[in-house]
Amino acid sequence: MIRALFVAFILCFAAATAAQTPVNAGPYVPSPSSVVSDMLTLAAVGPNDFVIDLGSGDGRIVLTAAKVFGARGFGVEIKDDLVKLSNEAAQKQGVADRVKFMKQDLFKTDVSQATVLTMYLLPNTVNMLSDKLLKELKIGTRIISHDYPLSGWLPERTIEMDLQEKVDISGVTTTIIYLYVVPAMVAGNWNASVPASVAKQAMSIELKQHITRVSGNAKVDGKLVALEGIRLKGDQLRFNLAGRKGIEFTGSVRGNLIEGEVAAAGVKTPWSAKLATGS
Ligand SMILES: C[S@@+](CC[C@H](N)C(=O)[O-])C[C@H]1O[C@@H](n2cnc3c(N)ncnc32)[C@H](O)[C@@H]1O
Repeated sequence: MIRALFVAFILCFAAATAAQTPVNAGPYVPSPSSVVSDMLTLAAVGPNDFVIDLGSGDGRIVLTAAKVFGARGFGVEIKDDLVKLSNEAAQKQGVADRVKFMKQDLFKTDVSQATVLTMYLLPNTVNMLSDKLLKELKIGTRIISHDYPLSGWLPERTIEMDLQEKVDISGVTTTIIYLYVVPAMVAGNWNASVPASVAKQAMSIELKQHITRVSGNAKVDGKLVALEGIRLKGDQLRFNLAGRKGIEFTGSVRGNLIEGEVAAAGVKTPWSAKLATGS
């Protein structure tokens, strides 16, 4: 009995300790300076941006974002010495009023303030963050991942290059930077109001969604028509109707409403849709 209690105590203690120890999301390996610059350029970082680097190492991404691109931001890092080094560098570089570095577990960091989120982490860590990023980041936030993709997400763009200095890190020269944009949620049934040149009756649209991938169909004057060429970038949706050449829908998603223009035979007319049932 006493032995069983002792084992239970040890197990509870181990679980509690494990719960407090941050998951190691990756060793300290700084992104080469040229990659930092490419990451921030790919995200089109500017003075209105707030950049968050998860696992900020020596702070170089957020420091460059402030110094070269005029942005604000913060980095979180588990290693004390790196946090100290980064804050000292921010002072020296004259950007301490716009950036800061905190000793903090990246998995527990509130990232909702970001307009640009960067990471250079282990492949499995990147994917452990997928749900958190979708839940916390604002629609339209740009996510930049150095070398490892977010599985299930369609990148908006990727840049691939060969860097000799990466051989020591990953064994190969290949370097990839992925740009993703946090999508609006569009899954569900929508009641659309479209011009008569597209449909005589009210049109209904059914959209299915997996992160950034969207597919669907529309009921146009009683006929089921597949949606083709669907693209969702942040809150910007576009699609065509199969078999209806020259008709293109574009629109902005604002919660339960989509508003935009439909181009038919070269003429642009407003259209809108209201969410009837979400999923
Ligand atoms: C590959 S380095 C990237 C450094 C920097 N972002 C860059 O690209 O130069 C990953 C960093 O994440 C830090 N890290 C690992 N796990 C972490 C965690 N759970 N919370 C915060 N930082 C973490 C490591 O200490 C390391 O400095």
